Amino acid sequence: MKLLALLFSCALVCSQVAYARQEPILIRFSHVVAADTPKGKAAERFRQLAEQATEGRVRVRIYPNSELYRDREELEALQLGAVEMIAPSLSKFGPLGAREFQVFDLPFMFPDKAALHRITDGPIGEGMLQRLRLKGVIGLAFWDNGFKSFSANRPVRVPSDLAGLRMRIQPSRVLDAQMRALGAQPMTLRFGEVYDALAAGVVDGTENPPSNFYTQGMQDVQSHFTVSNHGYLGYAVIVNRKFWEGLPPDIRRELEGAMREATRYASSIAQEENDRALEAIRESGRTQVDVLTEPEREAWKKALAGVSVDMEAHIGAQLISDIRRAIAAP
Ligand code: LMR
Repeated sequence: MKLLALLFSCALVCSQVAYARQEPILIRFSHVVAADTPKGKAAERFRQLAEQATEGRVRVRIYPNSELYRDREELEALQLGAVEMIAPSLSKFGPLGAREFQVFDLPFMFPDKAALHRITDGPIGEGMLQRLRLKGVIGLAFWDNGFKSFSANRPVRVPSDLAGLRMRIQPSRVLDAQMRALGAQPMTLRFGEVYDALAAGVVDGTENPPSNFYTQGMQDVQSHFTVSNHGYLGYAVIVNRKFWEGLPPDIRRELEGAMREATRYASSIAQEENDRALEAIRESGRTQVDVLTEPEREAWKKALAGVSVDMEAHIGAQLISDIRRAIAAP
């Protein structure tokens, strides 16, 4: 009888262990933009690829639109292990002690996406991701969005058009310096607060690629959108280091593969998504879209030329010159 009871309890424990083994590993992926954006779509692609590649041993749950955490909170949540994966914009890495990521905020730093990818896909980008380990997170990839435009409730064609306006920025000293160089008053707000702040007149204008602008409905509260392409907005996908290093190696390899694929997908759709959003802003009939001519862009470049010099100490003069050299190399 005793033996039977022992066998029975053994079977129970064994089945519990087996069940526990089958329990999928959960990756909570929090982000602040709409699902229908380059980042939202890349996150969804990663979810599909990761779940497929691991045959369900990993489940990815995506929380878009600041549903779970807002800008800075999501960094804290990642460090605390309340989420496993996030993809903040490169402007938002200051609180992690990685302010060199703000090099991507420098106005007119990258003439085009090809130049940008020389950095994000090359040794400089790799080194930047590697250094995040020291901050308790693992940098997995850079994801594209696109180049930013200005918006306001007045036409914006020359730098002085922004003078005196309260302009929403992301939390970046470089963006602060950029707005001040234009005579504007920078105001740092979380992404999820921007629409309401624009609607209430707390801020007068903002900057973002068309996809972020359109999917938040900002065309309803801004009369002018100027395609200026004056700066870049992209992301680094990061994971909690303890979580990542604690994964079974085969699972980690599959997830790395899924991330590589999702990253290729992100760069392949970003331009198209932004072009489509720009068209939709035009078609909304609520916001006038202006495109700066080359001579007009030159005036903006001139007005903002001092920002990179002023920000050398903040970002690192060496990094700025390494990037310039890598971009200029044949
Ligand atoms: C913003 O805060 O303006 C954007 O960086 C949001 C995002 O993640 O694209």
